[in-house]
Amino acid sequence: MFNRETYISRRQKLKQKISDGIILLLGNVDSPMNYADNTYYFRQDSSFLYFFGLDFQNLAAVIDVESDEEIIFGDDASISDIIWMGPQIALIEKAEKVGIANTKPYKDLQSIVEKAISSGRKIHFLPPFRAENKLLLNELLGLSVSKLKAYSSVELIKAIVSLRSVKEIQEIAEITKACAVGYQMHVTAMKMAKVGVWEQSIAGTIEGIANAGGGMVSFPVILSQNGETLHNHDHSGSLQNGRLLLVDAGAEVGSHYASDFTRTMPVGGKFTQKQREIYEIVLAANNRARELTKPGSTYLSVHLAAAEVIASGLKSLGLMKGDVKEAVAAGAHALFMPHGLGHMLGIDVHDMEDLGQIYVGYDDEIRPVNQFGTAYLRMGRKLQPGFVITNEPGIYFIPALIEKWKAEKINTDFINFDRLDSYLDFGGIRLEDDILVTESGCEIIGDRIPITPDEVEDMMR
Ligand code: GLY
Ligand code: MN
Repeated sequence: MFNRETYISRRQKLKQKISDGIILLLGNVDSPMNYADNTYYFRQDSSFLYFFGLDFQNLAAVIDVESDEEIIFGDDASISDIIWMGPQIALIEKAEKVGIANTKPYKDLQSIVEKAISSGRKIHFLPPFRAENKLLLNELLGLSVSKLKAYSSVELIKAIVSLRSVKEIQEIAEITKACAVGYQMHVTAMKMAKVGVWEQSIAGTIEGIANAGGGMVSFPVILSQNGETLHNHDHSGSLQNGRLLLVDAGAEVGSHYASDFTRTMPVGGKFTQKQREIYEIVLAANNRARELTKPGSTYLSVHLAAAEVIASGLKSLGLMKGDVKEAVAAGAHALFMPHGLGHMLGIDVHDMEDLGQIYVGYDDEIRPVNQFGTAYLRMGRKLQPGFVITNEPGIYFIPALIEKWKAEKINTDFINFDRLDSYLDFGGIRLEDDILVTESGCEIIGDRIPITPDEVEDMMR
């Protein structure tokens, strides 16, 4: 938890951005694995954490924008809670640590909200993503669950996005810690990637490193020799000589700030010539994207520049053809990179994704591109100092997609389909760093995980 002034100041800035009414922010509740008391790890709602810092279950908060009143709703531990969980600090004491002097029993939330509704006041709430909070909002507001997203407050979403997008120095320090844990996860995977090793034993080991770092993984580990499947969570295979292993994994530390890295390595420790050729193109795209990432540039333009590096590299190998800029404008590169260059990173691995990507990654000036591939870009807007984003280009050979484009004659002016036959069992390569936009450009957060082919081979040795 940060200091009291942090939370007071964040709420103050939030209030200044909302014209009237009340802001209702819900914490999360426990999610049971198989019965109520056997729960998954508790994960607090990130916006609740950002403004109220309290990292435990069954809390809600109301901020009255007009009267300035701020209330946390929750209940003190009962004697049976204390028997099972040990002595607990009173809610008011915890609330004071984040600058809140007013707490009320959770059951009082209903009457406060009802009073606001009956006085015709605006109630600003965020689009809920957990079933329990959908049901709670349905009860509190009398809105059907299917309408909650449409009635959530765009004013509140935009206000929160504008605050959470620009990271404070102390937030960057937390992300840096998460990156240090991520570094250990990835070099461990490199050292373990020997022929015959069970994929799950690597996935489990690196998940343990995240856990031992004080938190947990920032998303379920993606680790696969079928890296062409972008989010492959099947870890049932054993490592086979000559294949590529793609590992996309990160940690969130105790404060919940996250890291997210991808590296791709040759099982057995030595890239083949063919693998190196493709790898070097992805690495060049990653490096080019970093060179171009600076305040004032849009991440959409950086994405397209990375796509040009990929198209140009693949052209030099004879897999693509024609004019590179025209190929990218036509979306031909997306056969090989059918995803965006990156996303915001913060308390969430895809930061603020619950608030709506259109508000997080786009604005009035930069709108999403409705073209296969670039349509998946989560972050396109103009960059500002303090943004933390991922830089994660990739090249994949996805047999089903290649077959489809070939059969439907899509982008035949730019792709040498006949040359792709010998790549159908190649897999995929993605190289992902976490970067901070600075006043003059950007920097990689923490030590860069080994990334050149030689560095990777050295680490694997
Ligand atoms: N690391 C997973 C993703 O960015 O989607
Ligand atoms: Mn990512």
